[in-house]
Amino acid sequence: MDSLRHGVVLYFLSEESSTARAKRILLSEGTEQIQSSAATPFCPDSFIPKGAWREPSANEVDELLTDPPITEWNRTVAIVAVPKAVLNTFEALQLGSVTSWADIQERRRTDEYSIAVEAITSYLRTYATDSSGIVVSGLVINQIGLPSVTFDQQNNCFIGMHLDSWDALPLDQRHRSSNRFVLNLGSEPRSLVFINQDLETIYALLRYRERGVLASEVDYNGMVREFMSTFPRYPVVRVLVAPGEAYIAPTENIIHDGYTVGRSSLDIHLTVRGHFRFP
Ligand SMILES: [Fe+2]
Repeated sequence: MDSLRHGVVLYFLSEESSTARAKRILLSEGTEQIQSSAATPFCPDSFIPKGAWREPSANEVDELLTDPPITEWNRTVAIVAVPKAVLNTFEALQLGSVTSWADIQERRRTDEYSIAVEAITSYLRTYATDSSGIVVSGLVINQIGLPSVTFDQQNNCFIGMHLDSWDALPLDQRHRSSNRFVLNLGSEPRSLVFINQDLETIYALLRYRERGVLASEVDYNGMVREFMSTFPRYPVVRVLVAPGEAYIAPTENIIHDGYTVGRSSLDIHLTVRGHFRFP
């Protein structure tokens, strides 16, 4: 399975042309296992996007882009432009002068941060199916030059492409998982990288049922790694999210990560979890 198949789709809530949308998408040659190094420690069996990024063909763009209405939010990655009034509340935090994790922690203790969090929460309530279930995870920074940004604090290593497991629902319930809203507060586009096949499809592609593995017994982390080692030429999708935009992604249902290779400034973003449904 080397070429991009129809699956998880991309939805841009913006005025831009389809040509401009296509230019925000790149594809990798596949995935590869990465060895740990002193400079960038990786956990065992970690996978990252492989090779140079290329532009998608017209057919690949057709497979990836979708139009409203969106009904399957567990199989859709949406890009939205956050209203200026909400973004303005973050300006008081002066995130342009952040250089370290300590700076972020200091910002998170300020009244201005509380005001900005309230503004973003209020904005998101409009789009949440369950407004009491909105959880602001907070501001995060990632250093530049990283092919994987997700860090395992317990084991002190980057984990590579992965599934989130906040809700950790079983396979047949994954469509009920919360999705993740991630607002780009940095000064340049940030990258979300993902594989456009959801967990149920991966379960079927790996023939788990035929192998006697019940959906309720699946080791998801093992399944994710088995997919990438079995289909190393299956492309990773990279989508560019502009400053002031957010992505909404079903990160409990798709293999994904952040990616800061090629950036020249810190990746700063705010994460909120909830059941978001944009029109
Ligand atoms: Fe994640």
